[in-house]
Amino acid sequence: MSFNILASPLQGFTDFKFRNTVDKVFGGVDTYYAPYIRLQGQYEIKNAYKRDLLPANNSVKQLVPQVMTNCAKEFLFVAAYVQSLGYNELNWNLGCPYPMVSKRGLGSGLLKQAGKIDEILKKVSNESEMDISLKLRLGYEHSHEILDLLPVLEKHKIKSMVIHPRLGKQLYKGEVNLELFQQCIENTSHRVIYNGDINSVEKFSEMKQRFPSITGWALGRGLIANPFLAEMIKTNSTSLPENWTESFGSFHDTLFQYYAETLSGPGHIIMKMQSFWEYFSQLFSNPHKAHKSIKKAKSIAAYHEAVRVNMKGERS
Ligand SMILES: Cc1cc2nc3c(=O)[nH]c(=O)nc-3n(C[C@H](O)[C@H](O)[C@H](O)COP(=O)(O)O)c2cc1C
Repeated sequence: MSFNILASPLQGFTDFKFRNTVDKVFGGVDTYYAPYIRLQGQYEIKNAYKRDLLPANNSVKQLVPQVMTNCAKEFLFVAAYVQSLGYNELNWNLGCPYPMVSKRGLGSGLLKQAGKIDEILKKVSNESEMDISLKLRLGYEHSHEILDLLPVLEKHKIKSMVIHPRLGKQLYKGEVNLELFQQCIENTSHRVIYNGDINSVEKFSEMKQRFPSITGWALGRGLIANPFLAEMIKTNSTSLPENWTESFGSFHDTLFQYYAETLSGPGHIIMKMQSFWEYFSQLFSNPHKAHKSIKKAKSIAAYHEAVRVNMKGERS
């Protein structure tokens, strides 16, 4: 059965430059989700969000913007904005686990309020033509939160729902709950996309075998750690291309150049690249060593030297 690979968003990492470059250098991703837009009290789209979604800045085939809100009016404002840019789908973030968000009844903190979600979906679908898709967790505190929500969602037109089968309170740690994920599939007629911990072709195959009805698979951290992963899954190849350091080097250099041009000062540039290496280092034979040398870099020159040494280590 054919399937789609989707790129799950990571705020702070998967901006337009990252998405365009992954698409150009590695391929394999059918649809990219953009990190969420959040309005903070004002009906105004921040420039950083505008830049990220501007069609002229985006060269991927399919991009789906995302909103995080618990208010129909905000939802409609963002829907109208992204519609004006030519997008026809808006993904609703009901998954973010961070306490700053969930304590305010946003992200996974909203999951237990099935009535409110119902109300917002009703108003939004009455007043906007945008297709709505959802990003869900199992709940914030308890997995019955999603089981209570699913019957409510049956009343609505929902294009698809990405389910990351963890609780908000787990953040990104602990096990995914695959029994509960199975129950979700059995209790909805909407299209379900699986998301969580797919970091290798082997893991993908195992999950695909376990959930044969799933035709959409979203990769988050796994795609940053191994940007070849989507294409490797598509071609069912379990090893990196022989000359992987060349494509990875070109990907890395494009990102570096972009951040060097847009961030102010070497400190910010190094910090940004170091945060990527938390993931990138996993591609290297000795991830700990690769990460440590990058973390030690205090200047741009030292950073470049650490990258050079890491890459050279993989070639010899
Ligand atoms: C730093 C960070 C930022 C994230 N930002 C978003 C976001 O903006 N929107 C969203 O839907 N999910 C966000 N996520 C969740 C990921 O998209 C994904 O659902 C999660 O990491 C589980 O999938 P994975 O194991 O494949 O990474 C974020 C995760 C992390 C670690």
